[in-house]
Amino acid sequence: MAKQIGILTAGGDSPGLNAAMRGLGKSAIRTHGMSVIGFLDGFRGLMQNRFIRLDSAALSGILTSGGTVLGTSRDKPHKMDVGGKTMDMTDLMVENIQSHQLDALVCLGGGGTAKNAMRLAAKGVPVLTLPKTIDNDLWGTDVTLGFDTAMSIATEAIDRLHSTAHSHHRIVVVEVMGHNTGWIALGSGLAGGGDVILIPEIPYDIDAIAQTILNRRASGSTFSIVVVSEGATSKEVAELKNQAASLKKSEDEEVAAKAQQQLREIRLTQGNHTASLSAELEARTGLESRVTILGHVQRGGTPSPTDRLIATRLGTACADFIMRDISGVMVAVRNNECVPVPLEEVAGRRKTVPLDHPWILTARNLGIGLGDT
Ligand code: F6P
Repeated sequence: MAKQIGILTAGGDSPGLNAAMRGLGKSAIRTHGMSVIGFLDGFRGLMQNRFIRLDSAALSGILTSGGTVLGTSRDKPHKMDVGGKTMDMTDLMVENIQSHQLDALVCLGGGGTAKNAMRLAAKGVPVLTLPKTIDNDLWGTDVTLGFDTAMSIATEAIDRLHSTAHSHHRIVVVEVMGHNTGWIALGSGLAGGGDVILIPEIPYDIDAIAQTILNRRASGSTFSIVVVSEGATSKEVAELKNQAASLKKSEDEEVAAKAQQQLREIRLTQGNHTASLSAELEARTGLESRVTILGHVQRGGTPSPTDRLIATRLGTACADFIMRDISGVMVAVRNNECVPVPLEEVAGRRKTVPLDHPWILTARNLGIGLGDT
């Protein structure tokens, strides 16, 4: 009996999603004789049973397109907003999967999606995930879909920002994505010739950053490029977050609630930490400072050739695993191979930048300021 598979894309969009669906769908149809449907807008479409047929025609011409032809959302199966009420809709999703007699459900997503996929797997759904996030912060895989494209876009932006920096003898602070990890900042900062790179893993000391810039100026460099992750914080804010995070676990409900509120306030003020960082550096160095926030540009447009290749390999490997009745796994890239990794190993775990990572050591050897010395 020909196998039937369902696909959905969940979480933030990312370059390479369509390329992965094309690789999965075309190999499933052409090589394994399967049929494929795609649920629209992530787990919401699975709950509502909104889907399209993904035949060869639907999969043609999407290799180079950004975003996801299925649409996506950040909905969670166990916390769906149904008419203003938050409800666990996992069972309805399982029913819809069974109504299509699917032999596998493939979820393309990041860390949150791995956790959501596990909830379906716990109800007997044969689920596989493909590692997608420009943040590259998924545990268990060497690289995630979208990271190479985002790093390339950020690098090109940093290249271009050098023009105004050296023409006006300015500090240019460029914020890149990466809410919890600094992979994009570190990679694009190194590739783009950043002079200071600030990542969430290394809370920064504003005086140390200013000193790096003043030292550069004393040695004749009249401009500096500061590459900062959106999730980077000062030492002071990091300390407040750590305190609030530990108090949030308190048995005393009032203390826990107060800590939760404090974390919310920190997150809100965090939103413009790059602007205040720039102002602080201008005040400390006497150099003009300007801010560029790259935001969602880093997720837009056609995937890089590297991401297209990773996507196509992951997709075809996924079809092969389904043919071999493998499920409950993330299809990961490890040592240039596509391997199945149990979802239990992946869910809820984040791959942060190790402080002894080769890229960190390279930055230090180059004299790039990381905000801590
Ligand atoms: O998780 C990928 C990511 O792009 C993060 O880098 C960023 O902080 C977040 O998504 C933005 O989320 P949204 O697209 O929902 O604003």
